[in-house]
Amino acid sequence: MKVVNVVGARPNFMKIAPIHRRMQKSLFFDPILLHTGQHYDEKMSKTFFVELRMPEPDVYLGVGSGTHAEQTAAVLVKVEQFLSAEKPDLLIVVGDVNSTLAASLAAVKLRIPVAHVEAGLRSYDRRMPEEINRVLTDSISNYLFVTEQSGIDNLKKEGVTDNKIFFVGNCMIDSLIEHLQQAATTNTLHDYSLEPFHYALMTLHRPSNVDSRDTMEKIFVALEEIQSDMPIVFPIHPRTRKMLDVLGLDEKMKKMSNIRLTEPLGYLSFLDLMRQAKLIVTDSGGIQEETTFLKIPCLTLRENTERPVTIELGTNQLVGMEPQNIVAGYKRAMNGSTKNSRIPPLWDGLASQRILDTLEQLN
Ligand code: UD1
Repeated sequence: MKVVNVVGARPNFMKIAPIHRRMQKSLFFDPILLHTGQHYDEKMSKTFFVELRMPEPDVYLGVGSGTHAEQTAAVLVKVEQFLSAEKPDLLIVVGDVNSTLAASLAAVKLRIPVAHVEAGLRSYDRRMPEEINRVLTDSISNYLFVTEQSGIDNLKKEGVTDNKIFFVGNCMIDSLIEHLQQAATTNTLHDYSLEPFHYALMTLHRPSNVDSRDTMEKIFVALEEIQSDMPIVFPIHPRTRKMLDVLGLDEKMKKMSNIRLTEPLGYLSFLDLMRQAKLIVTDSGGIQEETTFLKIPCLTLRENTERPVTIELGTNQLVGMEPQNIVAGYKRAMNGSTKNSRIPPLWDGLASQRILDTLEQLN
């Protein structure tokens, strides 16, 4: 079975890596790795291929940055050209980035079946570009591989038939489990002079947060308080770095002396920092899941989440962007509110194997 595995942006790499690797070892699958080039910096892309032991992409489309329409259209055109020549039996997309939607749309119009990994997640917030990408990708996919119960419920509500939905678990957690030991050898805490479980780790990149001065200033108020208790390591996304500059908030950030700004980190260093953090502050989707698996308290600076299991079973708290709510969540986390958290069903390192098994059985 000739399969094109698509990646585009940073959160895609750790989801495709275990699928692609297993396919390379299998006699049934003939996998092709296609990188759209949505993320292209060394630190946003290349490092992940090395650390996740992925081969160089077989195809690199180099679409780069642009508006949503420009980026989506560029992937659509280039993926169509490639698929028309290559004629694969299946295209696999993961997650919810622009490359996910564009590649799946190109395939389905050529009548190439599409499998969507991480299907069914819904924030029910259509202001998020990712929500549009999720809804549309699911609606044109033939195989919907789901990470948590809410995914099944959402797809059924949208009228998807049972025979397309497969509850397989979480491929990102496959990668995490596979690399945890290696991450522990990176000695990353030493690089930042940190003590285990005496620091917070933060990521912020969502446009609704970082493109707004008002929101960033609110978040800063809460950060003042947290950084007066412990250091905060902040690997900064290119968009966020640019926006701090544009909004003139650079100086304000630098005045918080216990916030340690760094370049975006590689997979292993970031994992090492996550597993030993006292607290994680984020607006990412995937980090809510990784912290749930690692049982590290997580504050999500958003108004909604498409990953409710991380709150119901895991260590995640949805705190929004108001300073008093962030600080209240911080205090709850420090008082041990996450002690009885559980790892969600099938987040066991075998999701990618279940995906291969399903595809092999049905083809
Ligand atoms: C994308 C995804 C988002 C995901 C995030 C992870 C969409 C709609 N969004 O958002 O869901 O959580 O990736 O990082 O697909 N840039 C660089 N170097 C790079 C890549 C980007 O400097 O290698 C800068 C560019 O200025 C670009 C900006 O970051 O304009 C935004 O990049 P883009 O891929 O459009 O969206 P992200 O914000 O990264």
